[in-house]
Amino acid sequence: MLARTVTHALVGLEARRVEVEAHLQNGVPGLAIVGLADRACQEAKHRVRSSIASAELEWPQRRITVNLAPAGLRKEGSGFDLPIALAILAASRQFPVDRLASHAAIGELALDGRVRPVAGVLAAAEGARRAGISRLVCAAESAAEAALAGVEPIPARHLAEVVGYLRGEYDPPAVEPATNGAVPPETQLDLKDVRGQERARRALELAAAGGHNLLLAGPPGIGKSMLARRLPGILPPLDRDEALEVTRIHSVAGLLSRERPLIEIRPFRAPHHSASVAAIVGGGSGPRPGEATLAHRGVLFLDELPEFHRPVLESLRQPLEDGFITVARAEGRAVFPSRFQLVASMNMCPCGGRGDAGADCRCSQQRLAAFAEKLSRALLDRFDLVVAVPRPRAAELSGGGGEPSVAVRERVIEARSRLTGTQIDRSPGAGALLDRAVERLPLSGRGRARVARVARTIAALAGSTVVDEEHLAEALAYRSPKELAV
Ligand SMILES: Nc1ncnc2c1ncn2[C@@H]1O[C@H](COP(=O)(O)OP(=O)(O)OP(=O)(O)O)[C@@H](O)[C@H]1O
Ligand SMILES: [Mg+2]
Repeated sequence: MLARTVTHALVGLEARRVEVEAHLQNGVPGLAIVGLADRACQEAKHRVRSSIASAELEWPQRRITVNLAPAGLRKEGSGFDLPIALAILAASRQFPVDRLASHAAIGELALDGRVRPVAGVLAAAEGARRAGISRLVCAAESAAEAALAGVEPIPARHLAEVVGYLRGEYDPPAVEPATNGAVPPETQLDLKDVRGQERARRALELAAAGGHNLLLAGPPGIGKSMLARRLPGILPPLDRDEALEVTRIHSVAGLLSRERPLIEIRPFRAPHHSASVAAIVGGGSGPRPGEATLAHRGVLFLDELPEFHRPVLESLRQPLEDGFITVARAEGRAVFPSRFQLVASMNMCPCGGRGDAGADCRCSQQRLAAFAEKLSRALLDRFDLVVAVPRPRAAELSGGGGEPSVAVRERVIEARSRLTGTQIDRSPGAGALLDRAVERLPLSGRGRARVARVARTIAALAGSTVVDEEHLAEALAYRSPKELAV
């Protein structure tokens, strides 16, 4: 007796269709799983067997072969438990086999028969919809996430409930696709808390409007990290497609909140400086997305930039340029999107004294050289805005807070629509200034293009339809200031 269920395996962020076939034959009772199943998948044997018993269903006393097809694709994780159990139950005719048509299934089983959520349900649901399958049986906790893909989720708490549904004895509740509504304001940090630092605030606004990479350098304790953490609060919201894209990534990484699965605000990722290359660019089994991908369409914040391992910093150069990361796998390549905005903060020397008029730098030449060595020219070249942040004056610190984020955000959104909607050309004067700058400064081809982009952003924020000399001059002032040269 043979029965078949459909599920999906993840390759990177992509769902591949997998058919789970169960075949019952006469012979010594037992269960074999074939079809390039990994360890977690092989362990499904024990979970499936226990949960079928716990659901008071019958374990067929036959020789059972479960085949996961296509056999060439590696199957990882525990999401195959539920489809395997359903295929065995269908093959032993414990519910009508044809009820499974137009259903896909995904979920882990607990020994007591409960259905547990797994990562990547959104991608699996999208895969099902693309294949013309209209319903997805999944854990109740994953139902709102599955509904985002436009399939009808069949939320299941227990294997017995799924079988009840397939026998036509039980109607699962309808699930509404999740909309989160507005983000509660208390979760967002506000720029009004930052006193003084006008130049750094301006750079932050430019970074938000144009999606530029930003480096804040200066003495300790002056609000660099504080400013950087307030960037998401002034960024424009994600549109529906972007929100789904970001949600899919976080779903595969198992980071979605159950109550609010749809991610509508731009991600802000701040990995610790001890992070490995794999943690940043992704990899490992699965392979799993790294911080650079989790920051897609949002911000990757590297606090204390020179403390990061050099290979980690170098590994970011390619995604910064291309906006995606390719992880090579035996069965092909997984491509992870990584179009993030890089924001970094650093002191200007190991002791933190440089750049502070009131303090002396006590670093030795060797330490300074090692510090400079960490940050390659190639990496620094990728920052469009480099700001040397000074220690605020006493009057600034005792004064009131700055402009609140909502006001800044309004300008940012307006400038973004101008940047995408209208043509902004350079004036002849600005063109000549840019040419002179290429001659005088060490400005690479990339550097030139980046200065030009920042100048467009400055013009757009000013409501101008041409890039004037003053816009270009301001943009040039953000290119690797002299204070930074060690
Ligand atoms: N300009 C400022 N306005 C208001 N508060 C500030 C300002 N600068 C510093 N602070 C206060 O000091 C704390 C430390 O600031 P922050 O962590 O941003 O410093 P930092 O520049 O990142 O220093 P480090 O280089 O040591 O990381 C903040 O949490 C805040 O309470
Ligand atoms: Mg800091």
